[in-house]
Amino acid sequence: MNTKRTLIVGNWKMHLTVAQSSLLAHRLHTVIAAHRDIEVVLAPNFLALQPLSLEIDRRRFRLAAQNAYFKDEGAYTGEVSFSLLSELVHYVIIGHSERRIYFEESLEMIRDKVAACVRNGITPILCVGETSAERKVGETKQVLHDQVVSALSNLTSEEVAGMVIAYEPVWAISTFGGELAKPDHVKGDIDFIRHQVAELYGSDTAKKVRVLYGGSVDDHIVSGYLELPGCDGTLVGGASLNYQKFGGIVEAAYRLNRKPKK
Ligand code: PGA
Repeated sequence: MNTKRTLIVGNWKMHLTVAQSSLLAHRLHTVIAAHRDIEVVLAPNFLALQPLSLEIDRRRFRLAAQNAYFKDEGAYTGEVSFSLLSELVHYVIIGHSERRIYFEESLEMIRDKVAACVRNGITPILCVGETSAERKVGETKQVLHDQVVSALSNLTSEEVAGMVIAYEPVWAISTFGGELAKPDHVKGDIDFIRHQVAELYGSDTAKKVRVLYGGSVDDHIVSGYLELPGCDGTLVGGASLNYQKFGGIVEAAYRLNRKPKK
């Protein structure tokens, strides 16, 4: 029996004011119930984290930050550390392609952020994925290998087993074109990511680590990904800003979990 909870993460990016974030959270409470087998995570901007932490029903929702700085404290003007976030969030999204591309986050910086995240008792949601140029020249596996191996260095197998890796092909994210990645395509890449974890930390750890798919997922197409063996959930951008669509995604996960396995 699969004992992992399906993980559905809504990445609100730099959208919504604090008031709009509260309103969306309020609406999500009207369409999403507490499910034992599904974990729903909301990732609003930094400003909205504090108010939302007081407003959400914790049996239904958990919070994630979209980024943090790897130093725990000090003179780093403008930054927010994992230690400052540790009272507020269960998760932090690390290495999202928008951060790798727009903010030039390097493999080393992402490695240090993953380590800081774990050190502060927060679960990392590490995003990995190739660009369309890399895919076209057949470099997908090399890119995924480099991103996974570098980010996980310095961790114990227990720490890796507890973390989340989101496979997000850059070309499938709405920000960068939003081409549809077919579930058949995604399956091989999810397997490859898990295989990398197995090579480094053994098959037991690889089985435990949760691997998500993300990239233009909405309520209509989500089932195709969630049905893939080895896909433990999804990271949703655009569709997570619409409470009916996001509610529909959670509903689809709920129904799939109740469908008799073939
Ligand atoms: P999208 O974003 O669902 O809008 O493509 C996904 C993400 O950026 O995590």
